[in-house]
Amino acid sequence: MLGGEELSGNGGVTEPSVATVSASRGGGTLQPGKWLYRPASWFERLNPEVIFGRLGRLEVELGSGDGSFLVEWARRNPGTDFAGVERLLGRIRKLDRKAQRLGLANVRGLRIEASYCLEYLWPLGGVAALHVYFPDPWPKRRHRKNRLVNERFPGLASGVLAPGGDVHLRTDDDDYFAQMRNVLGSAPGFTEVETPVGLAEVVTDFEREFNKRGVATHRVSYRWVGGNPGESDQTSMTGPPGPCC
Ligand SMILES: C[S@@+](CC[C@H](N)C(=O)[O-])C[C@H]1O[C@@H](n2cnc3c(N)ncnc32)[C@H](O)[C@@H]1O
Repeated sequence: MLGGEELSGNGGVTEPSVATVSASRGGGTLQPGKWLYRPASWFERLNPEVIFGRLGRLEVELGSGDGSFLVEWARRNPGTDFAGVERLLGRIRKLDRKAQRLGLANVRGLRIEASYCLEYLWPLGGVAALHVYFPDPWPKRRHRKNRLVNERFPGLASGVLAPGGDVHLRTDDDDYFAQMRNVLGSAPGFTEVETPVGLAEVVTDFEREFNKRGVATHRVSYRWVGGNPGESDQTSMTGPPGPCC
C-alpha cells in the first residue's frame, strides 16, 4: 500500500483549501497549518528543498508511529530537517498535531510504505540519517520476510544515505536485533558506530512503554562509509539472497 490516495478526498487531510508549495517548482501540497506532505507524484524522487522550503541536512524516521521521537529530536535540532514515514493515517496525524502544536518548521510527515520510500522516493545520497525504532517484529518465523530490516535493507539504505550517513536502530525483540546486526554488520560499506548520547536520550513512545514495564531494549548504529549510493546492495551483487539470519 502506498498510502497517498487516502491523504486526499474526504477521508484524508488534503482538502480543497490546500496550498500549493512552490507549484512553479513542481512541488506537492502542504495544507496550511498542517505538517503532512503529499507529493505531486509518488513515482518521482522527492525534492527536500520543496518539502521544507530550504535545502539542509535531512534525517528520516521509518515507521515514525505517533511521532513523539521525531518531534522532540526536531525540537532539539532546529537546523536539521526531519521526515517521518508512517503507513497508518491515525498515527501520522498525531505527528502532524504534535509538530503543529510546537510550530516546528523542520518536520514533515509522509504517509507511505517505508521500503517503497527508501527505494523510489528519497533522493540518492540525500539523507544524513535513518532512524528505525521498534519496527514491527513479525515474531513468527514464516512472517519474518515482512521485517523492514531484512537482507534488502542495507542496499536500500545505502542508496539514500549520504557518505558518512548513519542508520540508528532500536528494538525490544532479541531475534530481530540479531537480524539487524547480522544484515548491517555483514553489509559491505557499513561499519558499526556508537549511538550518540544525545540521541539515545530521546526515547520513542514504544520505548517509553517498554521502559515502564521493565522490558529490555537494544540499540545499535551503523555508518555508511561505502562509495556509490546503493553499493551495499548485496541482493543484486550476489544474486538471490540466502536465508536471512
Ligand atoms: C511498533 S511501532 C513503533 C513506532 C515508533 N517508531 C516508536 O518507537 O514509538 C511501528 C510503526 O511502524 C509502522 N510501520 C510498520 N511497517 C511499516 C512500513 N512498512 N512502512 C511504514 N510504516 C510502517 C507502524 O504503522 C507503526 O506505527
